[in-house]
Amino acid sequence: MNPELVKRYSGAVPRYTSYPTAPHFSDKVGAAQCASWLAALPDQARLSLYIHIPFCSALCWYCGCSTKVANRYEPVASYLSSLRSEIANVAARVPASHSVTHVHWGGGSPNILTPDDIPALAETTRRSFNVAEGAEFAVEIDPRGLDRERVAAFARAGVTRASIGVQDFDETVQSAINRRQSFALTQTAVEALREHGIGAINIDLVYGLPHQTRDSVEATVSKVLALEPSRIAAFGYAHLPARLKHHL
Ligand SMILES: C[S@@+](CC[C@H](N)C(=O)[O-])C[C@H]1O[C@@H](n2cnc3c(N)ncnc32)[C@H](O)[C@@H]1O
Ligand code: SF4
Repeated sequence: MNPELVKRYSGAVPRYTSYPTAPHFSDKVGAAQCASWLAALPDQARLSLYIHIPFCSALCWYCGCSTKVANRYEPVASYLSSLRSEIANVAARVPASHSVTHVHWGGGSPNILTPDDIPALAETTRRSFNVAEGAEFAVEIDPRGLDRERVAAFARAGVTRASIGVQDFDETVQSAINRRQSFALTQTAVEALREHGIGAINIDLVYGLPHQTRDSVEATVSKVLALEPSRIAAFGYAHLPARLKHHL
């Protein structure tokens, strides 16, 4: 291990899933300000779209994402309806000559959507924006809620990359974080995605979780390497008890 690199990159920074990053979101930026920024984009702008699906089937106790447990599909369907309006609103304000080169669905768990709603949302996006031929289309996936119908739906929708949450394969750690997920289930998800042509596979890990040890993390990493992912993201656990009731 290079101590210089560790010193340079070991600082705590916000997770860079959006810009500005979440701690900088503020109600000082309103709809009018957003509209003026969109209108000021240059002609031929190359855009990346981030679409958030803030629903999951169950709550993982380490989770720092903006999500809610949905026991029924009705709130998800209602959110999809607002999302379609938001897509139309934003699309109407960007230059007509733009090109979307990256689409990312994050969450929450986008695979909570039904197999019909997955391609329908992708189609709404393509009808509203000029999505470039060969654009990257990435989706965050909780493999515990991924059946073959949904994998086929993601393939039909044109998804090219899947980011699969793992965190840790150790059973003691998994009990402590309320996320039971076997290696076999994860492997089945990865294989199904590859069989359907979604070949770019990211695996998400978290370090700093309860009961993790150097050995348990090494064991998890060895299992993850056996899946031959294209990328691995290792997030430092963000513990936010003041903001999130489930972070005790
Ligand atoms: C927004 S989640 C979506 C993925 C999907 N719902 C899942 O859990 O499999 C993306 C990733 O963020 C990471 N994450 C979530 N909460 C975190 C926290 N408190 N600190 C660090 N990373 C976290 C986890 O690695 C998780 O897989
Ligand atoms: S499934 Fe993903 S987004 Fe949902 S609670 Fe767990 S970590 Fe958070």
